[in-house]
Amino acid sequence: MNDPIRPKDPLLLDHEADGIQELDNNLPRWWVWLFVLCVIYAAGYLVYYHVLNMGPLSAAEYAKESREGEALKNAAQSKFEATLSGLEPSKDPIVVAQGGKTFGTYCAPCHRADGGGLVGPNLCDDYWIHGTNFSDNLKVVINGVPEKGMLTWKGVLQPKEIYSVASYIYTLRGTKPPNPKPREDQVPASTETFE
Ligand code: HEC
Repeated sequence: MNDPIRPKDPLLLDHEADGIQELDNNLPRWWVWLFVLCVIYAAGYLVYYHVLNMGPLSAAEYAKESREGEALKNAAQSKFEATLSGLEPSKDPIVVAQGGKTFGTYCAPCHRADGGGLVGPNLCDDYWIHGTNFSDNLKVVINGVPEKGMLTWKGVLQPKEIYSVASYIYTLRGTKPPNPKPREDQVPASTETFE
């Protein structure tokens, strides 16, 4: 649209849509510089990471951090295992309650919510297959008895979780849940021949 009074802006482009016109302004200087810097940065990035292979890519960085994490975890686990024989079950209600939660999630499916035993043995009676000491319990939880169906919890649960869940099952000793699984330690020889 040519206005007879106002002369046509030299920047005005020739097209128009519903009265909307376009000016062909120069891009602002700062924007152009930013663009140029981005291009330079991208070229540097490409050469640094993909041509000269000077920096680790995300996958390598992830693998490195995983290895470091794994080493930390193993060190904590070994430290814990070295102290087992001196450990007493915790009496701290918070620790025991935390252990109860862990038990409900991971152990109850096999040992029953009240510890009376299902696939796994009764944890409430006085008979233990792998020893009566608290540290015996800890060792079984840490290493499991894979050939008998007790899982290995090392690496799945943290040392403090293993300690709290063992402290919790210690509190189940002497409780008398209904229909407990019969004792499994010294199974009388005669029952082994039942068909
Ligand atoms: C997949 C089933 C299963 C799960 C899950 C399981 N257990 Fe067991 N557990 C067993 C079996 C089976 C045994 C008996 C192993 C044997 O006969 O030597 C056992 C044995 C034990 C013993 C030794 C009992 C004894 O008489 O010496 C303890 C302690 C124990 N489990 C604690 C736990 C804790 C704590 C958890 C959870 C973190 C857990 N278990 C999860 C199946 C399981």
